[in-house]
Amino acid sequence: MFLEKLLKSFVNKLGYELIKDKRKFITQGLTLPMHVFTNCKLLPNRNAVLPFLPKQMVIAEVGVAYGEFSREIIDVANPSKFYAIDYYQGEEFWGRNTFEKNKLSHEDYIKQQFNKEIEQGIFYTKKGLSWDVLNTFSDNFFDYVYLDAGHDYESVKKDIEVLLKKVKNGGVIQFNDYIIYDWVSKLPYGVVKAVDELLQNNQHEVLYYCLHKGGFNDIVVKINK
Ligand SMILES: C[S@@+](CC[C@H](N)C(=O)[O-])C[C@H]1O[C@@H](n2cnc3c(N)ncnc32)[C@H](O)[C@@H]1O
Repeated sequence: MFLEKLLKSFVNKLGYELIKDKRKFITQGLTLPMHVFTNCKLLPNRNAVLPFLPKQMVIAEVGVAYGEFSREIIDVANPSKFYAIDYYQGEEFWGRNTFEKNKLSHEDYIKQQFNKEIEQGIFYTKKGLSWDVLNTFSDNFFDYVYLDAGHDYESVKKDIEVLLKKVKNGGVIQFNDYIIYDWVSKLPYGVVKAVDELLQNNQHEVLYYCLHKGGFNDIVVKINK
């Protein structure tokens, strides 16, 4: 009985502390300037952006997992070049052990999925930490980048810093998981803070806001240099 009471009081205290932290987290967020939304369209999902993209662009997807969204991008946007950037550690994503099942490394699995595009000289895998790999490209190289690698604040911040050099003037970055907390993995995400800081300079524009059923929305930003 005593132990049960002690446990309950501990749980309540912990819950209270967590709520307090979350409130602090939300109220400390930045207010976005109104004018960055002047040309913003609300879309039902992230795929809905793809038909709006010009064809034959130079594209990178940063963080590819099983390459499922890479396939969508390629089939709809028909890029001239597509760079699949990932550290290719072969982790299991969303409870599916696809690499083990296929007896392939993460990178080899992706290469197998895009064999045709590799032969056509369109598709390239690039292995390493996202910001390091991005830094190996020339400045003003990419037309469109789908950013979906590390979701903690420091990682997103580092990726943005490099991308501001590597994306062309007028190029586009689509940020996945614009959400402060992953309620599935129970992890805080830094995407909102990093993107909101990017938008504070009053220079870049939000083109699309893409809804997701679980709140893992995408925000699509045009980079004006
Ligand atoms: C959420 S998954 C990407 C999902 C994919 N974009 C999609 O929509 O299907 C995240 C991917 O990023 C990779 N990743 C995470 N942090 C990274 C980092 N700092 N550098 C390179 N790759 C990273 C993981 O290996 C994983 O493949």
